[in-house]
Amino acid sequence: MSQLSLSVDIAGLRLRNPTMNAAGVLGISASLLKRVYEGGAGAVVTKSLGPAPRSGHFNPTMVIVEGGVLNAMGLPNPGAEYFVSAIKALRAEGVPVVASFFGASIEDFRDVAELLSEAGADALEVNVSCPNVQEELGMLGADCLNTEKVTAAVKEVSKPPVFVKLSPNVTDIAEIAKAAEMGGADAITAVNTLKGMAIDADFKRPILTNVTGGLSGPALKSVALRCVWDIVQAVDLPVVGCGGVANWRDAVEFMLAGASAVEVGTAIRERGFGVYKEITTGIEGYLEANGFGSIKDIVGLAQEAA
Ligand code: FUM
Repeated sequence: MSQLSLSVDIAGLRLRNPTMNAAGVLGISASLLKRVYEGGAGAVVTKSLGPAPRSGHFNPTMVIVEGGVLNAMGLPNPGAEYFVSAIKALRAEGVPVVASFFGASIEDFRDVAELLSEAGADALEVNVSCPNVQEELGMLGADCLNTEKVTAAVKEVSKPPVFVKLSPNVTDIAEIAKAAEMGGADAITAVNTLKGMAIDADFKRPILTNVTGGLSGPALKSVALRCVWDIVQAVDLPVVGCGGVANWRDAVEFMLAGASAVEVGTAIRERGFGVYKEITTGIEGYLEANGFGSIKDIVGLAQEAA
């Protein structure tokens, strides 16, 4: 294998390779995030942190369905303040940390952003796209004006780059991405989960206590890929692809659509912490076999061919 550089720069966030965990997957403690990094990820993403501790929904909050997983956790988290020491500990060990967070109002988003920025997070990921909680908590990003306002408020107080994580559960994701760009976003993460549900035929009732949940895993991939494609055409920002990435070929497809990096979540259930190293090694093999020198050589290549 040659000495290709797999490092990427996403709005100033320099990573040793273009893989991260998706928010919510193993991001609840410093020790688990450290294992994600040791498994080969270029950076780690925390569970979405809110202004106060939250217990989330009652079980069942997760069900395996065809092609993926439906979850309706309800944003359980220990609160941003509690996680400050974990962010500091990870950074002290050289682990780049992307802090994912949410709020119930624009002021909340600003306050939590300020706290996480001061804690030293290397980037902030604004979660305006959780489909499992009431709209003002989870889905401010369903609306262009709110997306712009939240992004602008977060940018006012943030030192590190700000990624805005968008929902596929909207009519036109490109318009929402433009609103985030207007608000000053440094990058877009696309996408959060796709709203769905599961019904138990024997019990004759919805399986999740929340009734609906967010679909992740392979069934989400083609939707996520299309969202990345549309966003890349609409804005002049780096995009982090997320949704159904399970192997290096998926990751490469997202990059060809225009993503600079990918987040991998559901696949860790089957492939374990080593999934990040597997994907990175596969990308390296692909670059070498096709005569490319770096990741940026393939970012958006399929756009040029369309
Ligand atoms: O229900 C949840 O905690 C999911 C969060 C998200 O998709 O952002």
